[in-house]
Amino acid sequence: MSALSQTPAWIDFVKAAQSSPITSDALRIVHAADIDVDLSTQRHSKALAKASDALLAQQGFEAARKELFEGGHINWTENRAAWHTALRATHPPASVSDAIQTEQARLVSFVEQANAQNRYSNVVHLGIGGSDWGPRLAMTALKAGNGRRTIRFASNVDAHAITSALEGLDPHDTLIIISSKSFTTIESLANAACAIDWLRAGGIEEPLERFVAVTANPGAAREFGIQDAHIFEFWDWVGGRYSIWSSIGLPIALGLGQEAFNEMLAGAQAMDEHFLTAPVEQNAPVQMALSSVVNCSILGYASFALCPYDARLYNLVPWLQQLEMESLGKSTTRDGDTLDVPSSPAVWGMPGTDGQHTFFQWLHQDGKGAPVDFILCAKPDHRHTRHHRLLVANCLAQRAALLQGKSYEQALAEVQKTEPDSARASKLARHRVHPGGRPSTLIVLPSLNPRQLGSLLALYEHKVFVEGVIWGLNPFDQWGVEYGKRLAGDIERRLDALGSDPDVSPYDPSTAHWVRALASN
Ligand code: F6P
Repeated sequence: MSALSQTPAWIDFVKAAQSSPITSDALRIVHAADIDVDLSTQRHSKALAKASDALLAQQGFEAARKELFEGGHINWTENRAAWHTALRATHPPASVSDAIQTEQARLVSFVEQANAQNRYSNVVHLGIGGSDWGPRLAMTALKAGNGRRTIRFASNVDAHAITSALEGLDPHDTLIIISSKSFTTIESLANAACAIDWLRAGGIEEPLERFVAVTANPGAAREFGIQDAHIFEFWDWVGGRYSIWSSIGLPIALGLGQEAFNEMLAGAQAMDEHFLTAPVEQNAPVQMALSSVVNCSILGYASFALCPYDARLYNLVPWLQQLEMESLGKSTTRDGDTLDVPSSPAVWGMPGTDGQHTFFQWLHQDGKGAPVDFILCAKPDHRHTRHHRLLVANCLAQRAALLQGKSYEQALAEVQKTEPDSARASKLARHRVHPGGRPSTLIVLPSLNPRQLGSLLALYEHKVFVEGVIWGLNPFDQWGVEYGKRLAGDIERRLDALGSDPDVSPYDPSTAHWVRALASN
């Protein structure tokens, strides 16, 4: 297939997008699995909708979606399926249903037994990336005081993380979960070694008896010394950043209860149903992906901000950073060509209203700014009515201000109220102009519960998948993370080298300088 920018459907898509203003006078809300996705402040027009249909057809969207749900080897560089939808299906596909249901039953029975025996008041979860962000996000979003246990997370190899995670816990009442799809990730293994020492120092003679492993490499977990009954398996056809729906969800079941985890699965399944059956125009993941492609590939926004107006969703930002950027941060298409349009927006952000005091100045008055995904819960899980009213008001106000902006004339009228000198007033007014016309999406959840969180995560998973289809990128591999890991191993060996003058010849002068300078620490 020729380069995307030269394809007929793309050329028409660009033309239609460029002549579709942000419709500030039309309401466009898509309803998906109890969630309202308001795309009114994204570019849209009948022409763009038509061009979008043609582009999706040209890029093989329907066939790709079918492959995704039927376990086709859609992860073409690793020749694997990407079957996270099977993990949450009401009736998993026959070829994998036994494996899925066996592991789900093992997980349920482990949690039930731990609850019945009132064991493990504390859980320390060791994992990183996709083996961490999902459970960490769920626990910080949903715990709200109804957690059965203290669940702590350590991911970073910086030992400050593991030491603070273990601090103050009773080794006799603590379970260590090591979650690692490969069971070779150096951070998780180094933290596990630290936890073993901590258990031993606390008087536990058989520390590994208090370990559980969640992995797609049970052999390595067995070799590590973890008993089979404590090894929960998932499979290579589950991508790391898509694995929360597998036994990677164990901390959620231990911390919030099996029912909460089941509700997350049900919420994700409801979003799968929507993604599979909703017509394109009413399909939330598809419409969010199309807006993202317009904003990134055509309007030149190289990033977007994620601003959940709910303090409990602060881990949604790093979770989505990995999902979007590790899935789409590539430039080689399925045909082996270099993608010739801008793609893969960087994701950043933080919960509102904190963001308003951090980077909203930039969003409003930078020469370009960035699109924003706003997320709101209609109902809070507290009784502070005025706080929630203020939260909602700020979220809607920021979004409206980004859209409508403020003209010079409006700014001048404002300044003249307090500045009698007209020359000075007109100068000052220039500093108060807001360009406006800045795109955003507003996602409204009825409330933040396990089901809604499951639907929200699946919404973004499918949005990323559709972006990948349009750009021709594989959202399910991550070859780009291997090189740095390999160099890290090499440099660590040199740092470890006897004497303080390790051979650093292969490296640039700066790296060489610091390897020498820091070798002795
Ligand atoms: O970031 C690279 C990566 O391989 C992610 O894709 C993955 O989620 C993370 O590291 C952890 O890998 P594992 O689950 O194998 O420890």
